[in-house]
Amino acid sequence: MSGKLEGRVAFVTGAGSGMGQAISYRFADEGAKVVAVDVNPETAAATAATIVERGGEAVSAGADVRDKEQVAAAVKVGLDAFGGYSTLILNAGIFDNQTPLLECDDDLWERVIGINLLSAYIVTKAVLPHIIEGGGGTVVTTASVASFLAGSGGAAYTTSKHGILGFTKQLALDYASKNVRANAICPGAVDTGLTRPFWEADPSSLELFSAVPARRVGDADDIARLAVFLASDDSSFIYGHGVVIDGGFMLT
Ligand SMILES: NC(=O)c1ccc[n+]([C@@H]2O[C@H](COP(=O)([O-])OP(=O)(O)OC[C@H]3O[C@@H](n4cnc5c(N)ncnc54)[C@H](O)[C@@H]3O)[C@@H](O)[C@H]2O)c1
Repeated sequence: MSGKLEGRVAFVTGAGSGMGQAISYRFADEGAKVVAVDVNPETAAATAATIVERGGEAVSAGADVRDKEQVAAAVKVGLDAFGGYSTLILNAGIFDNQTPLLECDDDLWERVIGINLLSAYIVTKAVLPHIIEGGGGTVVTTASVASFLAGSGGAAYTTSKHGILGFTKQLALDYASKNVRANAICPGAVDTGLTRPFWEADPSSLELFSAVPARRVGDADDIARLAVFLASDDSSFIYGHGVVIDGGFMLT
C-alpha cells in the first residue's frame, strides 16, 4: 500500500460490518490509525483485532450513534489511544426495506431517521472539534443513490439519505476555512449485511442489477477505495459533493 493516510486517525462508525469494516481495513492498510465504532461492540472489536493482526493500529468501542454519552465515551477511547483525530467516517446506517410512508410505523421512522441522519449531529459535534484542533482533516459520510432518487429506499430511508447529503454540503461550506473537507459517498446496491437479508428474502430483486452497466452489485471494498480517495489529499479540490458509485445504476 502507498500510505496515503499515514499519520491520520479515523473515527469510523458502523465499523463492524459491510462498508465500515472494509473502510477500516483499507484505512489501516493505507497507514491510518482506526477507531472502530459500532453498536455491536463485538463486531467493532473484531474489526480492530483484524487490523492489529495485520500489523496496523486500531482500537474499538461499542456505541449507539444516537446516544451522546456513548459517542463521547467512544471518542475518548480514540483520544486516549492516539491523541487526536483527523478523519471522521459517518457510515453507520440501517435500511427501511423500501417501506412506503403509510406502512412505516413510528418505530421504523425514528430508528431510520435517528441512525442515518440525526446521529450525524451527535457524532460530528463530538469529533469535529478534535479534527479542527489538530489542524483540519476530512469528513466522509455514507449517503446513497437514495440521496438523489426516490425508490431505492422507502419514505424514511430516502428522507434520511437526502438529509445526510445536505448535512455534508453544509459542513463542507462552513468548515473549509478550518481546513476541513467533507464529502459524501453515494453508493448504489452493495453486497453487505444491510442488503443481503433483503435479497435473500426476494432473490428476484437482484435481477435488476444484471441490467446495470457494471452487471453486478457493488462490493464493500469498491466503497472503501473511494473512501480512501475522499479522505486523502488525492481529492484535495473536492468539497461538499455526493460522489455516486453505483456501477451505472443511475444511468438506467
Ligand atoms: N449496502 C448498500 O447497498 C448501501 C447502499 C447505499 C448506502 N448504504 C449505506 O452504507 C452504510 C453502511 O451500510 P452497510 O451496507 O455496510 O450495512 P451493514 O449492515 O453491513 O453495516 C452497518 C453497520 O452499522 C452498524 N449500526 C447500525 N445501527 C447502529 C447504531 N445505532 N450505532 C452504531 N452502529 C450502528 C451495524 O451494527 C453494522 O455493523 C449505511 O449508512 C447504509 O445506509 C448502503
